[in-house]
Amino acid sequence: MNITVIDHPLVQHKLTIMRKKNTCSAEFRKLLKEITLLMGYEVTRDLQLEEFEIETPLEKTAGKRITGKKLGIVPILRAGFGMVDAMLELVPSARVGVVGMYRDPKTFKPVEYYCKLPDIHNRQFILLDPMLATGGSSVAAIQMLKDRGAKNIKFLCLVAAPQGVELVNREHPDVQIYTAGLDRDLDENNYILPGLGDAGDRIFGTK
Ligand code: PRP
Ligand code: URA
Repeated sequence: MNITVIDHPLVQHKLTIMRKKNTCSAEFRKLLKEITLLMGYEVTRDLQLEEFEIETPLEKTAGKRITGKKLGIVPILRAGFGMVDAMLELVPSARVGVVGMYRDPKTFKPVEYYCKLPDIHNRQFILLDPMLATGGSSVAAIQMLKDRGAKNIKFLCLVAAPQGVELVNREHPDVQIYTAGLDRDLDENNYILPGLGDAGDRIFGTK
């Protein structure tokens, strides 16, 4: 499987607290933001830099700034929304697109309801969704980006099931997946095991 598991101790510690069923929504949201900040450090590792001249109080020197492909952050609604602030703290100049998608509770197939993206040209996209379960939602969201011309896409999630990773790898082998946890399986309702439950409900306090 083509996936990067970010096993930094801080990430694993925070993920474990998120998994616990008694962790409240406020704590869950806070931890999601903190983990996204930590994972964002890894997912942005290959952003291109260019040198330019600056002046310190002592002398002129070469500084570095992010250049090349501009960054686009795209949360899959709803749950991906909980990861946006952290990415924007890391890269304040990033543009934000939105993909609206939910999983039909009976068929488990993704239902698309919204897509608004920034200018695609020469932009690197990071798609955000805490949960990669069957992979249906992320495969469809990646396809929505590609249909609009996006060529450089990474996918950042919190917890992934092997089935979802395999589907994304098969349908979009060019998309690198980053996760904090590669879990065991899916249950009969296609929830991730052991997982953390319904991410959207836990972030927004619904249900
Ligand atoms: C969840 C999650 C993913 C999707 C993953 O969203 O945030 O988008 O399910 O499942 P999949 O890999 O099997 O497609 P959900 O459909 O619950 O929508 P919500 O975020 O609006 O609650
Ligand atoms: N969506 C979630 O929020 N959690 C799961 O375990 C699977 C899909």
